[in-house]
Amino acid sequence: MLEQLGRKFARFTTNQVVRWPRAWPLFRWLTRVQFNRIAPAWDERRTPESFASLEAALDALEASPSRVLDLGTGTGRAAFLIAHRYPEAEVVGVDLAEDMLAEARRLTPPELAGRVRFEQADAERLSFPDGSFDLVSLANMIPFFEELGRVTAPGGSVVFSFSAGPETPIYVPPEVLRARLGELGFTEFADFGAGNGTALSARKGQAA
Ligand SMILES: C[S@@+](CC[C@H](N)C(=O)[O-])C[C@H]1O[C@@H](n2cnc3c(N)ncnc32)[C@H](O)[C@@H]1O
Repeated sequence: MLEQLGRKFARFTTNQVVRWPRAWPLFRWLTRVQFNRIAPAWDERRTPESFASLEAALDALEASPSRVLDLGTGTGRAAFLIAHRYPEAEVVGVDLAEDMLAEARRLTPPELAGRVRFEQADAERLSFPDGSFDLVSLANMIPFFEELGRVTAPGGSVVFSFSAGPETPIYVPPEVLRARLGELGFTEFADFGAGNGTALSARKGQAA
């Protein structure tokens, strides 16, 4: 019952915030409470399948990123996957929910401890300078387009992935992602599917 409500709240929040980003402060507190509450059990729901569409999108990236941001990192699984894939990369995982981050830190493999770090922050307003990252990843995460566009370096990539495609509680249709990213100067859109998951990648123009 609580689980069902949580999924509905996540979908509702995503739809509202994508349409009206300024509405986010109305949802922030409850979103944080919700994810803090489920943090201890979240990782049990993650399987390699959960990130198959993210992997498919990464397979198609031309360049290996060296500075990576994983927004809404949760227990850090996407951050670990990316760090393993790109052994030269520094990876930052950001999340609103402290308890998710505590899990992410606890689960960090020792061999990644020097290159993966986690920070508590709101993806709506990040403290990183413009163009700090050459890959920004969002796995099952509400997008704050202006801010993720700001921190992506010219020529850098963004990858959105949804573990259960349109059935994912936090889901944004590809046509919406394309339209919003296009306004921010992103191009080279590509769609991916793997298992039940979907993903979309895009590249920020050099002049954007
Ligand atoms: C559905 S979970 C996905 C976690 C992880 N990416 C995964 O796929 O396992 C969404 C995560 O985004 C975080 N989140 C939601 N809104 C956020 C925001 N504005 N800034 C940072 N993190 C946020 C939540 O706390 C939660 O950990």
